[in-house]
Amino acid sequence: MSLEKVIDKKKNDLSKLIDKKKIPEHVAIIMDGNGRWATKKGLPRTFGHNKGVTVLKEIIKSSKKLGCKVLTVYAFSTENWSRPKKEVEFLINLFGEVLRNEIEEIHQESIKIKFIGDLTPFPDSLKTVLNRSEDLTKDNEDFALNVCVNYGGRQEIVKVAKKLAIKSISGEIKPNEVNEELFNSELLTQGIKDPELLIRTSGEKRISNFLLWQLAYSEIYISEVLWPDFNENEFLKAIIDYQSRNRRFGGIESLPNKSFKGSYCSS
Ligand code: FPP
Repeated sequence: MSLEKVIDKKKNDLSKLIDKKKIPEHVAIIMDGNGRWATKKGLPRTFGHNKGVTVLKEIIKSSKKLGCKVLTVYAFSTENWSRPKKEVEFLINLFGEVLRNEIEEIHQESIKIKFIGDLTPFPDSLKTVLNRSEDLTKDNEDFALNVCVNYGGRQEIVKVAKKLAIKSISGEIKPNEVNEELFNSELLTQGIKDPELLIRTSGEKRISNFLLWQLAYSEIYISEVLWPDFNENEFLKAIIDYQSRNRRFGGIESLPNKSFKGSYCSS
């Protein structure tokens, strides 16, 4: 029976299909489709972003409950500045408002929050909330939530290249010492394991400048559901699909956990 049919039969209790030994440690999500969801309902696009926040809260809870350790979401890309000014302002206000309302609960849930991206263009009031949230939760160990804001994968890679070039000119490193490990250590995600799974909602089949370096070996799951309609059940479908894959990392069969130094799930 196809995976889709098995999932369909079990739709009332997908958790029974989950292999607890193969939970991805790090899941990355491109939360796409907020605008289309709202437009389809005849509502302003901002309604989609508001509903998107509710969904994000549900998915944080679901992934933590399932045993994932890290969730990285794409909340605002470097390209999103080209949206109408009103929508950009709405999103910036929304980030601040959500954090002010939710940070206590995030902290109580032992979630460590981190913002990945160039925060410099944001208003000081938002930068303060983001920095305070990171600071308050920095010692939490149960779960990590990384929120990519004003983030672009190419920009991140160019910055690392510049840093290494400067270090090389100053004699701090030799050009032939530049390798993947050194490069990794200069990324904004330094110290964070690569995602095993990337989920993108709304049926689009693009990476859109998200974690270009880090997603090198990630499994990709495209959900046709628009982000505001995404939920725990849809998340479980992505995990079940991921668990059905044979991760070969360029080899010919799945590697046992210990011999792969990259992003293989160790839980
Ligand atoms: C993509 O949908 C979604 C965004 C650009 C914003 C996502 C942000 C949130 C859900 C808020 C998260 C808040 C915090 C604090 C982390 P789209 O607008 O590109 O939809 P479309 O493709 O249908 O136009």
